[in-house]
Amino acid sequence: MSVRRLAEEQFQPANFSFNEENAVWAEATIRKYPEGRQQSAVIPLLMRAQEQDGWVTRSAIEHIAAKLDMAYIRVLEVATFYTQFQLKPIGTRAHIQVCGTTPCMLRGSEDLIKVCQKKIHHDPLHLNATGTLSWEEVECQGACVNAPMVIIFKDAYEDLTPERLEEIIDTFEAGKGAEVKTGPQIDRHESAPIGAPITLVDDIKPVRTNLEPQPQAVTEGASVPPANAGRPKDTAPETDKSLKTPVTAPKAAAENVKVAEKGEGSPTTTETAPAATGSTAEGAPAELGVPSGETKPKRSRKPKPEGESS
Ligand code: FES
Repeated sequence: MSVRRLAEEQFQPANFSFNEENAVWAEATIRKYPEGRQQSAVIPLLMRAQEQDGWVTRSAIEHIAAKLDMAYIRVLEVATFYTQFQLKPIGTRAHIQVCGTTPCMLRGSEDLIKVCQKKIHHDPLHLNATGTLSWEEVECQGACVNAPMVIIFKDAYEDLTPERLEEIIDTFEAGKGAEVKTGPQIDRHESAPIGAPITLVDDIKPVRTNLEPQPQAVTEGASVPPANAGRPKDTAPETDKSLKTPVTAPKAAAENVKVAEKGEGSPTTTETAPAATGSTAEGAPAELGVPSGETKPKRSRKPKPEGESS
């Protein structure tokens, strides 16, 4: 997998605009999204720009960013993330994207790449001599069960052998790509097992008594309490609104801050906070380890004279 960058400057056209038909289509597509969500049209618009010019140019990205009121970098991120967007000129008749991820690799994708190197160009994303073909390696295309496979434009060609890929490339090179059967290239229906079905082939009616009408259970008068499943169980003190906080007892909280700053000992607790578990009769939170009714010794926070050890 290579780093995806925009094409070099010499390939970039100065301007981009949708042709008349695509401009109408783009406006209609943008209107499909709710007010304020028009940026969701970025992928369809980029794809349309690619279908119009063959690849996604920098000026197309700029044009779409302006159209959707998006930052240029946001559209660039989308265009460079998806390998479905071509950032350089590609073959006019076929751009072969060979899946090189593990399942396809184990089933022979490296041999498919050798075919592309032999018939198109040694390096990915380089055109052949006539400019009609190009290739690149991509990550999983979601057809692992029929590995190895390639994507050519919008179609997948699966269960490939090097020989079959050579035939496919030759057909596209001859301008007859539409004649090539898409999907599995062997005796397989979509992603079903190879050959004829071998399971669930007998048309036997299952013997299942539970398919017969069953007598209804008597439910009259039955009371089923609502389940507590899914209800939040929140007993954390941080979220217990009844515990005293600067919000529930602002006066006491401010007093505590003053005392702490002066270093004069235990905070004042004269304000009454809402009754809560763990609070004293006055509303102040009970201190851990100090029995009710006892006073915790005061702690001096004044700095000690210099030279005195702690
Ligand atoms: S690994 Fe090739 S399609 Fe998934």
